[in-house]
Amino acid sequence: MVSPDAALPSVERRRSGLHGWGMFALERIPKNKRIIAYLGEIVSHRESLDRELRYLERGHIWCFKLNSRWVIDAGHGGNDARFINHACTPNCYSQVVDGTIWIRAARTIAPGEELTYDYHTDGDGLITCLCRPGCRTKL
Ligand SMILES: C[S@@+](CC[C@H](N)C(=O)[O-])C[C@H]1O[C@@H](n2cnc3c(N)ncnc32)[C@H](O)[C@@H]1O
Ligand SMILES: [Zn+2]
Repeated sequence: MVSPDAALPSVERRRSGLHGWGMFALERIPKNKRIIAYLGEIVSHRESLDRELRYLERGHIWCFKLNSRWVIDAGHGGNDARFINHACTPNCYSQVVDGTIWIRAARTIAPGEELTYDYHTDGDGLITCLCRPGCRTKL
C-alpha cells in the first residue's frame, strides 16, 4: 500500500488536448523525480484479459502490467495516475520498485506541461495515437 507522500510534486487533473482528461505538472519537476504511483486492484494476467476487453469496448486502457504474474487494474481503486495519457515521445517513464509502479520524470518538466508516458501496449491496435499531428501509432 502506498501512502500519500508530501515529497511528491504537485500535479492536477485537467482536460487534455490529447484525449479526455490528462495530468498536468503544477510545479517544475526535476528529471527522474518520482511523480505518482499507479494504483489499483492487483489481478492475475488471466483476470486482466477479460477486464481489458471490457474496458477497450469503451475506449479505455486501465490495466498496467506489474510483472509476469500480476497486473494493476486502475479501473478499480485507481488514483489520478490512471488519467496520464500516452505519448510516443513522453516526458515520463514507469519503473517498478517493490511491487509499486512509479511514474517518474524522463526529463525536467515545466509547470503546466501535460504528463505522458509510453504505454508500451501489446498492440490490440484499437486506439490510434493522437500524441502529435501525423502520429498514427496503434495503441
Ligand atoms: C489511462 S486512460 C488516460 C485518461 C483518459 N484521457 C481519460 O480521460 O480517461 C487511457 C485512454 O486514454 C486515451 N489516450 C491516452 N493517450 C492517448 C493518445 N496519445 N492518443 C489517443 N488516445 C489516448 C485512450 O482512449 C486510452 O484508452
Ligand atoms: Zn503517438
